[in-house]
Amino acid sequence: MSVLEKLSSADAIALEDKYGAHNYHPLPVVLSKGEGVYVWDVEGKKYYDFLSAYSAVNQGHCHPKIVGAMMQQAQTLTLTSRAFYNDQLGKYEEFVTNYFGFDKVLPMNTGAEAVETAIKICRKWAYEKKGIHEKAAKIVVCENNFHGRTTTIISFSNDENARKNFGPYTEGFIMIPYDDVEALEEVLKNEKDIAGFLVEPIQGEAGVYVPSEGYLTKTKALCEKHNVLFIADEVQTGIARTGQLLAVNHENVQPDILILGKAISGGAYPVSAVLANDHIMNVIQPGQHGSTFGGNPVAAVVAIAALEVVTDEKLAENAETLGQLFRSKLSEYIAGSTIATLVRGKGLLNAVLINDTEDSSTAWDICMKLKENGLLAKPTHGNIIRFAPPLVMNEEQLLDCVSIITKTLQEFEK
Ligand SMILES: Cc1ncc(COP(=O)(O)O)c(C=O)c1O
Repeated sequence: MSVLEKLSSADAIALEDKYGAHNYHPLPVVLSKGEGVYVWDVEGKKYYDFLSAYSAVNQGHCHPKIVGAMMQQAQTLTLTSRAFYNDQLGKYEEFVTNYFGFDKVLPMNTGAEAVETAIKICRKWAYEKKGIHEKAAKIVVCENNFHGRTTTIISFSNDENARKNFGPYTEGFIMIPYDDVEALEEVLKNEKDIAGFLVEPIQGEAGVYVPSEGYLTKTKALCEKHNVLFIADEVQTGIARTGQLLAVNHENVQPDILILGKAISGGAYPVSAVLANDHIMNVIQPGQHGSTFGGNPVAAVVAIAALEVVTDEKLAENAETLGQLFRSKLSEYIAGSTIATLVRGKGLLNAVLINDTEDSSTAWDICMKLKENGLLAKPTHGNIIRFAPPLVMNEEQLLDCVSIITKTLQEFEK
């Protein structure tokens, strides 16, 4: 089939089904265009995007400033590899480190790569700076975490579907319950060789679990006390999604290592980043880590443009205001609902809990109905629906979406 041929949704789905690995289970909608908060399917139907490519498209689809920067750089120089310098990387490194308040950045491409990078830096720091015996370093992680799909990362997941039959697994991780300060305190008191604590400030994939107030401050203080690196995975929560530039900003916590991905490029290009100060980052020397595409000039200009959009368009402030409105409107509805039991979240990272068992298809059926009604969202973990629209949404659009969501839920009330 020619790439120029116009496909129907059914054709496009059939092609993916036949020729693509079945590693995703998408909603049956085939998108061919996006602009701002909207996407269109191949038949021309328009939808509100309420997933934003898992919070990568915070700046809205095809933001002209980001696309413009990308196109201009793509016509000039795309990739040199890090065997040579390029004229954009240094400018980006200066920009991004000032933007987030760190000495240095290590640029990568995907979120999982950035998490791997942070693990490597943390372990090396533990051996060379903290004095842990080689191969003994352990990193504390949380139950129900989601940090990506590599072999090491799934080694410390407790999601059986993500792990099963991918062993043998990487050692060196200790799992504790999320949102449990005492559990971290116990581990840090009783185990000698702890190098880091890797945590999502809000657990996104797990179903938008917001920890108790003070959790980040208290765990950061414990890490400081025990000379353990506090590693924040803000791949999903970062870049204004939760109503602050970073979710750790809600508690004024500065991580020792910050992991970013997704919206650092506005969803235009795979860009991820690991940020840390010199005494940590300087453990990495030539030949010890890298990636062919990490730090390429297109990524550099795209990330600067994407972060400028976040500031210029006050996306964090908008996420905060609209997030409050979303939760208050949904809470009003849920007070008289039998099908939805709770809305939770921060900024524009929210979830609605559906009143059915985890293995029921109700949340999926609701998402199918939402699609019919012009809004795209997807269940995350059974009976939880995540709602995360682009942060460029305005109040009128948000209220329109609330009305689509409540009308749809109404159709499922008993
Ligand atoms: C918190 C978190 N970390 C890491 C990742 C992995 O990012 P990527 O899919 O770009 O590898 C994700 C993806 O959803 C994420 O939510």
